[in-house]
Amino acid sequence: MRVLLLGATGNLGSRLIPALLAHRHTVIAFVRSREKLRTLISGALLDNIVVVEGDALDSAAVEDALRTHECDAIVNAAGTRIKDGEQILGRIATSISSAAVRVGKQRGGKPLRAWFIGGMGSLEYPGTGGWHIQDYLPARMTDHHRETEAVMKAIPTTDLRWTLLCVAMMAPDSKDIKLWEEPRGHTLSVAARSPPDWQDSWVRSVPLIGIYLNLVPVIRSYTTKLEDVADLIAGSLAEDARDAQVGELIGMKEGAK
Ligand SMILES: NC(=O)c1ccc[n+]([C@@H]2O[C@H](COP(=O)([O-])OP(=O)(O)OC[C@H]3O[C@@H](n4cnc5c(N)ncnc54)[C@H](OP(=O)(O)O)[C@@H]3O)[C@@H](O)[C@H]2O)c1
Repeated sequence: MRVLLLGATGNLGSRLIPALLAHRHTVIAFVRSREKLRTLISGALLDNIVVVEGDALDSAAVEDALRTHECDAIVNAAGTRIKDGEQILGRIATSISSAAVRVGKQRGGKPLRAWFIGGMGSLEYPGTGGWHIQDYLPARMTDHHRETEAVMKAIPTTDLRWTLLCVAMMAPDSKDIKLWEEPRGHTLSVAARSPPDWQDSWVRSVPLIGIYLNLVPVIRSYTTKLEDVADLIAGSLAEDARDAQVGELIGMKEGAK
């Protein structure tokens, strides 16, 4: 697919470049600074992608990039939690998704495929009768991801074939961002709506507060490798038959290698 990648200078976005190339996608990196990207990734990677400069909050610029480069998919790894005291994730999600919806409509109602990144708090907390993990966490830890979730859920999948990947924490396997010879072959377990392979800690049985304390060790167990997450997204785009992930909130957990 021809993929517009936002956030390519970030932790996840930079790993998405080799992952998307390894899965044989064409990468159009939409970045605020071409120069910054050049300092972060190998020359071989840079030679294999198209770079467009712009701001993700500029919806018209995102739309123009999608049209000019004939993209049929979009991966949004852009956004920092708080910028100058302001939550911007929801605004970025609105800007990018509305551009993608407009382009789909211009193409006669052929919606683009899209992956957005949210937080694990948006998933259901197993064993609570339908409450969500974020309902048991301080609002300041979850508000920014709730905004992204609200933006995505308001978009019909007939307008944009979106998936919201709900991430706990991600850590790098390697600092080097360079070409992959082949797809990584991640071993992430994946599930829709609630986290896969959930295992409560013993603290959950503590009266009253156990249900809150339980989340500290359990969420930590959902830490994933950035490279695996990149491989998951790139691979899922390659097998676009995975309609089961369209319009869904997806959780993931590292499996055994
Ligand atoms: N890392 C985690 O453990 C974690 C956990 C849960 C959720 N997430 C979510 O996953 C996503 C990726 O995380 P990350 O750790 O890779 O983030 P990151 O390293 O902070 O990267 C953020 C990226 O967004 C770009 N960006 C920010 N504002 C932009 C704008 N207005 N226009 C264009 N680009 C913009 C940054 O570009 P510049 O280089 O120009 O600043 C950078 O490339 C984020 O949405 C984050 O909230 C991450």
